Formats: sequence, structure tokens, C-alpha cells
Amino acid sequence: FHVDWDIITAEKAGFDHFMLKEIHEQPKAYRDTMGSRLSADGRSVVLNELNMSKEDIQAISRIHIVACGTAYHAGLIGKNVIEKLARIPVETDVASEYRYRTPIITKDTLVIVVSQSGETADTLAALREAKRCGARVLAITNVVGSSAAREADDVITTWAGPEIAVASTKAYTSQLIAFYLLGLYLAQTLGTVSADEIAETIAGLRKLPEQVEAILKDSSAIESYAKQIAEHEDLFFIGRGLDYAVALEGSLKLKEISYIHSEAYAAGELKHGTLALIEEGIPVIALAIQSDLFEKTVSNIKEVKARGANVFGIAAEGEEELAKSVDQVFYVPKTLDLLSPALSVVPLQLLSYYASLALGHDVDKPRNLAKSVTVE
Ligand code: G6P
Repeated sequence: FHVDWDIITAEKAGFDHFMLKEIHEQPKAYRDTMGSRLSADGRSVVLNELNMSKEDIQAISRIHIVACGTAYHAGLIGKNVIEKLARIPVETDVASEYRYRTPIITKDTLVIVVSQSGETADTLAALREAKRCGARVLAITNVVGSSAAREADDVITTWAGPEIAVASTKAYTSQLIAFYLLGLYLAQTLGTVSADEIAETIAGLRKLPEQVEAILKDSSAIESYAKQIAEHEDLFFIGRGLDYAVALEGSLKLKEISYIHSEAYAAGELKHGTLALIEEGIPVIALAIQSDLFEKTVSNIKEVKARGANVFGIAAEGEEELAKSVDQVFYVPKTLDLLSPALSVVPLQLLSYYASLALGHDVDKPRNLAKSVTVE
């Protein structure tokens, strides 16, 4: 009697790849990252791990978010979240650029470094430069005791659990949860948002895990669309506002593991360049979730449709209108616009996974890339 068993297969827990397993672990990662950080009455965020007093928070005049790769994309969402909720100006930078552009770092600057591993060389160098200039540093990291966690003044740990696949999924979405918690915490401390709006956002956060489960229940439409795009060499992602930030992450994910060239574009900016590349049959993945930008995004979709693009739309449930303007549409559950990236990125993760699979690539270990880059 012989059983084929090895430790790797066991660790994949029945999934073909770590990436798919980690995509499916997101509901748990959301729950664990929110964990005891939401008060029982659902009206406030509790971040006991922060060593910042109310006065310290009031003294913050600007925030710099610094990170690499997928964590940088989480930082782009973080900027939106913090500016909207706490009304503090935020800049988000790629760590390898940050140090060399003489950023204005003062004692009242809060520098937030975001790093799954907490060991990325460029991010750590930025952290050290920020400290040298006297800034307070907060690390959002998935690894307790990592260099970033040890060297920062404050730490918010994302409880995504170990991430093995090179392409980051659950670590990214857990970073989004961390930014929602931080944004709300700063807002409740500064009084920039009403108590009811905080409660409403917390209620929305609590629903996210089951909404991700609903998306994961049936990925067949994404799987068959992935087979379609696998035949193309170039494609585009478009979106506005937070949808654009998610488009950047969707495009990166696709490039990392399927090697299909793609570009994410702010939908309103298409006419200033990229529109020249739209030709008959080119796939365009359009995110049209932000409700206040919906009409504008639809008119950008019409611009690419008129030039022959094949458009795959992603919209919130209830936006039946979009189906008229696109070739196919995938609906994600309805949530607050601000929270929507935590849902809309999931079909994009699955899309890159299935495209990589269709092309026969090594999903978990893409060529030329490493999970953690500890050299500059
Ligand atoms: C590498 C990985 C990326 C990751 C980036 C930052 O390039 O391949 O997936 O986003 O490093 O990693 P970190 O651990 O700092 O989040």
C-alpha cells in the first residue's frame, strides 16, 4: 500500500496551488485582522497596540506611505482611506524612489511602511531614512518580529498567516483592512467623521468576509474569461478613483504570474494617450464600482467599445445598467464605495490565477521574481 504524500501537498490543504489556497483564506484573514480591534457595540475601533496619544495624533500634519510592489498598491488605497476619513494629507511612494527624491520629512510626519514580510530592503531603507529625519514610523506588516516591526515606533500586524505564493493576495487585502482600521481610528480620535458614519463603516467591514465567500463560491465566469485573455498579448485595466488603484493591482497580478502584458489606466486619462492602442478585439477590464464616478466610467467604457475593445466589466450588484455597455459583466456584492477594493480585487486575483494556469506557468513561483527582496 502506497500513499503519495508530501509536506507541500499537505500544506496546500487540497488546493492545487498556494495562491488559490491563499485567495480562499481571505475571509479568515479579514476576520482575524479585524478581530478584537472592533468594539463589541460596533461603534469604535480599538487599536491598543498603538503607542500614540491623542495629542500625538493631533500633531500629525502629514502622512507618507512607503512600500514596494503589491504593498505599495495597498498604500494607494490607504491614502484614499486616510484622507477621506481623517482629513490628513497623505502621499504614497514606492520605497525605491522615496529616499532619492528628498521628501519633506519632519517631526510631525507619520511615515507608514507597509510590508508583508517586513524584510524588503528598499522599504527598510526608507524606514531608516524616515527615522533619521525624526519622523514617527508605523509599520503595517504580516510578520511579527520582522525587521520592520522591530524598528518601527508602532506596529499594526495583519493576521493573514503565512503567505507562500510569490503573488501576494491575502496579505494585500489584509493590508487594506489594516488601513480601514487605522483610518477609522484616526477619524474617531480627531472627530473628523460622525459617530454614525463610523458605525456604518464598521458594519460594512464586518460584512466583508461573507461577501468574499460569496464571490469565491462561483468563479466559473472568471475561469472562462481567463482562458479568453490567455490568447492575447496585451490588455488594459481601467477604472477611476479607488477602482483605478485596484486596477493597478489587478494588472500587476496578471503580469507577475501569466506574463501577459497589461497596463492599468485611470479611465479619464485614456484619451490622453492609451486610447491610441485600443484596436479591434483588445480585452479591456473595466472596474465601474465607485458609485459617484459610475456615469463617467461608463462613458470611458463607451470610448473603448467604439474602437472595438472587448470589455469585461466589474460592477456592484444592482448596477444592471452596465451590462448594456460591456460584453460581459461580473458582479461583486454591494458595499460602501470606500470598502469596495476589498471585494473587487478578488475576481482580479482569480483572473490572473486562471490565466497563468491556462498558459501552463508556474503559478506559485513565477520566473525572475522572489517572495521577499532583501537586496536593493
Ligand atoms: C516582492 C514580491 C511582491 C511584494 C514585494 C513587497 O517583489 O514579489 O509580491 O509585493 O516584494 O514585499 P513586502 O514583503 O515588502 O510586502
